[in-house]
This record gives sequence, structure tokens and C-alpha cells, in this order.
Amino acid sequence: MSKTIQGAASGKPVEVMQRNAQRRITLTLNGRKRSGHCEPRELLSDFLRHELGATGTHVGCEHGVCGACTVRVDGVAARSCLMLAVQAEDRDIDTVEGLAPAGELGDLQEAFRRHHALQCGFCTAGILMSCADYLARVPEPNEAQVRDMLSGHLCRCTGYTPIVAAVLDVARSRAASGAGSRTASRAASRMASDTRAREDAIGGATRQEARDA
Ligand code: FES
Ligand code: FES
Repeated sequence: MSKTIQGAASGKPVEVMQRNAQRRITLTLNGRKRSGHCEPRELLSDFLRHELGATGTHVGCEHGVCGACTVRVDGVAARSCLMLAVQAEDRDIDTVEGLAPAGELGDLQEAFRRHHALQCGFCTAGILMSCADYLARVPEPNEAQVRDMLSGHLCRCTGYTPIVAAVLDVARSRAASGAGSRTASRAASRMASDTRAREDAIGGATRQEARDA
């Protein structure tokens, strides 16, 4: 259920969802269109886990601190506990399940296994998603850069040394095969196209406002 009120600033009608109202949203999860119902206040992390069954995404602090819930939103790493499910409507969401679509571990996951870069695994899904995003943008990082990127994640049992080693190992392998630069160029062109789309949307809205004024 929702009701329409007059916007305080614009004076235009604004749709307001009622507390406890259920809304159906559709998004693309790991390349597949998925739909489900959520309350307006429901976190994306809870929606992924409880409504769509994507339990690979873990929830720790629910305050944006630990990084366990990290997913990619339109290709960029984001805390799913800091985002409402309704904000994910029509967006591309990637979770750790998407790193092994055919049931075989991806290169990051293989490297984590090889380097013993996890113990309980609670932090691992989020770390993998941040690494996937980071290596797409920075294909050949040095150790300091990897440690800086990992500073957004709390791992309470493994220790960071093997995690850093696994990430650097993947970066080296991708560079040797040329995969890193291809991924980086795809990431750059996707970000450029996202930026153009956002600018077009902002420009369109501004032109509309100018016409309405
Ligand atoms: S659960 Fe989201 S950052 Fe900790
Ligand atoms: S592997 Fe246990 S918290 Fe990181």
C-alpha cells in the first residue's frame, strides 16, 4: 500500500509507502532477472538472503563497518546492509554465488583456497566481492594498495597475510594471461557508460524542471 502526498519542496505529488507495506521489486541477480516482495524499510542484505535465497552474502554488524555483506551494485562494491532493497530495483546485483556460476570456483576463490586465506569464512564472501571490483579497476596493485582495499573488511580469524597473498597472486596470473587489462578496460568502459547514463538522467530531470518552472 502506498499513498500520494504533496511534496514539501516541489509541491508535486510524491508516492509514500506505508510502514509494513509490501512492494514487489525486480532486479538482476548474478545475471538473472529475479523478483520478490519487501517492506520499504527492508535492507538489501536481508532481501537477498531471505527473499531471494542468496545466503552467500553474510550479515555481521549491519552498520557498514565489517564488510561481510559486500556485493556489487552495477559493478561497484557496496555494503548491502547500508542499502534498502527498494533502491535495488532494476539494478544489477552480483553476489558471491555469481563468482562460480557453473559450479566451478573462480580464480579469486581458487587463490583463497590455495593460500589458506580463510578459516571460518564469515568475512570471505564480502572480501571476494570487494576484490572482484577492485581488481577490475586496478588490475596490478601493489601490496600496500591491496592492504588499503582490505582495510574496509574485518576478518577476525584468518589474519590478512594469506588474503593479501591470494589477491596479489590473482593479479599476477591475470596480468600474465592479459586477462587483467581486458577486465580493467571493460570496467572502465562500463563506468564511463554508467556516468553518461547518470548525466543524461540528471540533464533530463533538470530540463524537465526548467520546463515545469
Ligand atoms: S553487515 Fe554490512 S558492513 Fe557489516
Ligand atoms: S575467515 Fe573467519 S572472519 Fe575471516
